[in-house]
Amino acid sequence: MSDFTSLQKERQRFQPKLPTILDKVDKIKVTPSEKLDRKPDLEKLFPHTFSLPMLKFDLASDLNHRPLKIGVVLSGGQAAGGHNVITGIFDAIKKMHPKSVLYGFFNGPIGIINNDNRELTADYLDHYRNQGGFDMIGAGRDKIETPEQFQKAADTVKKLDLDGLVIIGGDDSNTNAALLAEYFLSKKITTGVIGVPKTIDGDLKNDEVEISFGFDTAAKTFSEMIGNILRDCLSAKKYYFFIKLMGRSASHIALECALQTHPNMTLIGEEVAKEKKTLREITNSICDMICNRAEEGKNYGVVLIPEGIIEFIPEFNELIVELNRQPLDQSLSKEDKIGYVKEKLSAKSKSCFDAIPEEIQAQLLLERDPHGNVQVSKIETERLFIEAVKTELKKRKEAGKYKEKLSTQPLFFGYEGRSCFPSNFDSQYCYALGHVAALLVNSNATGYMSCIKNLIQPVKEWGIAGIPLTHMIHLEERKGKIKPVIQKALVDLEGKPFATFKRQRESWMLQDDYRYPGPIQFYGSPEISDEVALTLKYEKMKSFRS
Ligand code: FBP
Repeated sequence: MSDFTSLQKERQRFQPKLPTILDKVDKIKVTPSEKLDRKPDLEKLFPHTFSLPMLKFDLASDLNHRPLKIGVVLSGGQAAGGHNVITGIFDAIKKMHPKSVLYGFFNGPIGIINNDNRELTADYLDHYRNQGGFDMIGAGRDKIETPEQFQKAADTVKKLDLDGLVIIGGDDSNTNAALLAEYFLSKKITTGVIGVPKTIDGDLKNDEVEISFGFDTAAKTFSEMIGNILRDCLSAKKYYFFIKLMGRSASHIALECALQTHPNMTLIGEEVAKEKKTLREITNSICDMICNRAEEGKNYGVVLIPEGIIEFIPEFNELIVELNRQPLDQSLSKEDKIGYVKEKLSAKSKSCFDAIPEEIQAQLLLERDPHGNVQVSKIETERLFIEAVKTELKKRKEAGKYKEKLSTQPLFFGYEGRSCFPSNFDSQYCYALGHVAALLVNSNATGYMSCIKNLIQPVKEWGIAGIPLTHMIHLEERKGKIKPVIQKALVDLEGKPFATFKRQRESWMLQDDYRYPGPIQFYGSPEISDEVALTLKYEKMKSFRS
């Protein structure tokens, strides 16, 4: 273990606040409550879990707990706060019974398949309290997919005699958790499977899940960096920064950062798709903004680009669908891969493919992730837009419509925001999520997601819930097959956060109405250190309790 910095030590000592009800986690009785609408189309796939009820959490004085054995896994990309979910589970089960044991599976679901684990003791965990990253046990994107892998997962939980398996992950991992819960029940295995909503992308949310953990910290980190760039930009007045922001599908991060910092332009993928905008149209609108600013003597600015934008541009979406159908030998050279797919594309997709630089073509052909997704973090969309804008401005220059010289800087903010110290919000949210996951296992629940409610209220007033995973699942066509999935939440173009952005964006284009959020604060006035994301605040504003 390397030397801890002063901040690491200080954060280690930070005691996350808990919702009042969780202060007595060992005195909570969980019982079935409200029945939910049955989902008959899921009955075949989830015969044991398709009609699970909601749960009620009440304080009770007569509870006798057994020692629990729980296994935990971190699935998918890093998101700040993951360690606190684990310390939250640990502290809760130790409070319920001091002989309870927690195991961590290494490097994601593959750790479950191979039963690669270690016991997570108090000493081991203490190093990771309120620290960023997933390095306590590592993470991975493998899926438990084949019948052999399901069988091996079953062997593991039986061997360790687990009461519960907690899967911390995004939409795909939680769908996997639902399938595993169903499988265990069908095999009469008593291990409960509980999901925890994680992803910086913020696209695992619905009526029940207010936000996934990690979004708050990532958006705050990127907003700090964007604010710094905006000030640099305004100081030197010589560059256009094109900043790509993580968020594989939805543009929640870009929207939150735009609301926090007011850059000159922010593309929102969902709007691009709705309005069926072509690359040329988007390029033209960026160029119009550059030309209008030039007329005011402003030859600098900042453009935010969500990394998932490419899949929202209809012509690229069609191209990607066609590319995904081509089995591609990844051992081929870049040139050979490009040559091979060009022959297979339709005329329309070929002309879209031909119009982009070779480097971007090659990036579009990189291996898909284990869930079949294009690895958008590897596609340099910021450079694609810079090239397209340069080409268009050259034409405008030749036509005498633009007289300046464009100087650009491409940037990508992504990995920096996933493993940093979790904000107070994420530290406390995750610690509470861990407690609820422990409660669910203790009550023999399976196929549920740990949930925390009222997140825009002070922590003490947060509510707790267990939501059946099947309640969030629907059937969707993926790669030509009908699959159960938790639907990704995209930016709601009718919602308050987007409306607030839309109302102001025209003026941000010309005026330099920049905002500088600064670094995440952990101490001092709660107004600064405990601030919640603006998108969450605007979305939940109606439910403000006076
Ligand atoms: P999760 O949905 O698994 O949390 O990951 C999200 C994400 O951070 C995306 O924003 C990004 O596109 C992707 O992971 C990058 O994946 P990788 O870490 O495999 O490069």
